[in-house]
Amino acid sequence: MQKFHTAEEAALKLRPDQPVYCFRPKVLIEDARRFQALFPGKTAYAVKTNGEPMVVETLLKAGVTAFDVASPAEIDTVRRFSASAELLYMHPVKAQSDIRLALETHRIRTLVVDHEDELSKVHRIVQGLDIDPGEITIFVRIQTKGSAAYELSKKFGAAPSQAVELLERLGRLGYRLGLCFHVGSQIADPDTYERALASADWVRNRANVDIAALDVGGGFPAVYGRDPRRKAVEMPSLEEMMARLRADIQEWGFGDMELVAEPGRVIVAQAYSLIVRVLLRKGRRLYINDGIWASLSDSWTGKITLPARFIPDPAIRNRNGDPATVVPYRVCGATCDSVDILTRPFWLPETVDTGDWIEIGNIGAYSLSLRTHFNGLYPNSFVEVATPFGQEGAPQGFASLETMA
Ligand SMILES: Cc1ncc(COP(=O)(O)O)c(C=O)c1O
Repeated sequence: MQKFHTAEEAALKLRPDQPVYCFRPKVLIEDARRFQALFPGKTAYAVKTNGEPMVVETLLKAGVTAFDVASPAEIDTVRRFSASAELLYMHPVKAQSDIRLALETHRIRTLVVDHEDELSKVHRIVQGLDIDPGEITIFVRIQTKGSAAYELSKKFGAAPSQAVELLERLGRLGYRLGLCFHVGSQIADPDTYERALASADWVRNRANVDIAALDVGGGFPAVYGRDPRRKAVEMPSLEEMMARLRADIQEWGFGDMELVAEPGRVIVAQAYSLIVRVLLRKGRRLYINDGIWASLSDSWTGKITLPARFIPDPAIRNRNGDPATVVPYRVCGATCDSVDILTRPFWLPETVDTGDWIEIGNIGAYSLSLRTHFNGLYPNSFVEVATPFGQEGAPQGFASLETMA
C-alpha cells in the first residue's frame, strides 16, 4: 500500500479518478486501545462494521482478542489472522448449518438467541454434537428503547417477559447464561444504556436462574460532521459516557458479572477517510464517483452529516465564487439510480468545480462492508495516510467535526 503524509498529498500525487480509501492504522490502534481502557470488560469488535483484513490484523496488533461475528465469512476473516481469538456468534437468527459449523468446526462457545425456536434449533445441534451445554454461554437478547441513528430493537430482541421464559428454559437445559442488548447504532441519547440496564435488571429479577454475563452491545457513537443549520447535538465524550456506563453497571448490580461490549463504529470510523472526485458540478449539485451503493449508504440511511474537506485541483486556474464562503451541496452518487443522492449535504466552498477532490472523513464504519457492485462500480483502492483526518492544518473547506462536549 502506498504511504502518504496526508490525504491531500495522496490526491495531488495520484490524481485519482476512482475513489481511494485512506487507511490510518495508528488511529485504529489508538481508538481500539482507548475503548479497551475505558470499558470494564471484554471488548469484542463487531466485524460487520468493517471486516477488511487490514482492520482485523491491526486490531489483533492493538491487543483485541475477541470478535463479534455474524456469519461464517466473518468467522473466516478473523481465523485467517488468528487461531486463538475468541469468537462470539451474536446474530440472533442463524442458519442451522452455520450454527453447526460454528460449534463443531470453529468451536465457538458463545451464542445469542431471542426466540424459543432459535433456542430449540441451537439445542438440537448441541445435542447432535454431544456437547455439554454447560460449556456454552447463551446470551438472551432483550429489546430496548433508545434514540439512535439505527434502531435495532424493531427487528431483534425478546420482550422482557419472553426473555425471562427463555432464560429459565436455557437454565433447565444446563447452559451458562447471559443477558445482552443492542441499544441501536450511533446513539443520540446518553441515557440509552441506563434504560437498557434497567430492563436487564427487570428480567434478571424475575428469572429464577444464575446470570453469568452481561453484554452491552454496540451503539457508542462515532464523531461525524456538523451541519451549521442544525442545532448541535449535545453528546458527552466517550470518556464521560463510559464513566456513566461504569457507574450505572455498578448501580444496577451487574458489576460482579462478566461484562462484554461489541463496539463497531466507535473503533473503526476514524481509521479511514475517502478521497472522491467531483465528476460534474451542476449548480449546487455535485456528482461524485462514489455513492449510496458504494461507500456512503450508512450516511444515507442513518442521515449522518459527513465531514468533507475540499482538495482543489491546482490545474483549475479560473474559479467562480468566494473560496471563504462555505455552502451546502447536494451530493449525487455515481450510479444511474436516482435514489443515489445523499440525505445530507456536503458543506464546501463556493469555488468547488468539476475535477476537484473531496476528502470525506471518519468513513471507516459501514462503508467498505456495504459496498455493492451495482453499475460495475466498486471502490477498492487503498493508501495509507499518517495524519489523522482534521489535523492536516487549516481545512480548505468545511471539515468541522461534531465536537463532543
Ligand atoms: C449484534 C451487533 N453487535 C454490534 C454491532 C456494532 O454496533 P455499533 O457499530 O453501533 O457499535 C451491531 C451493529 O449493527 C450489531 O448488530
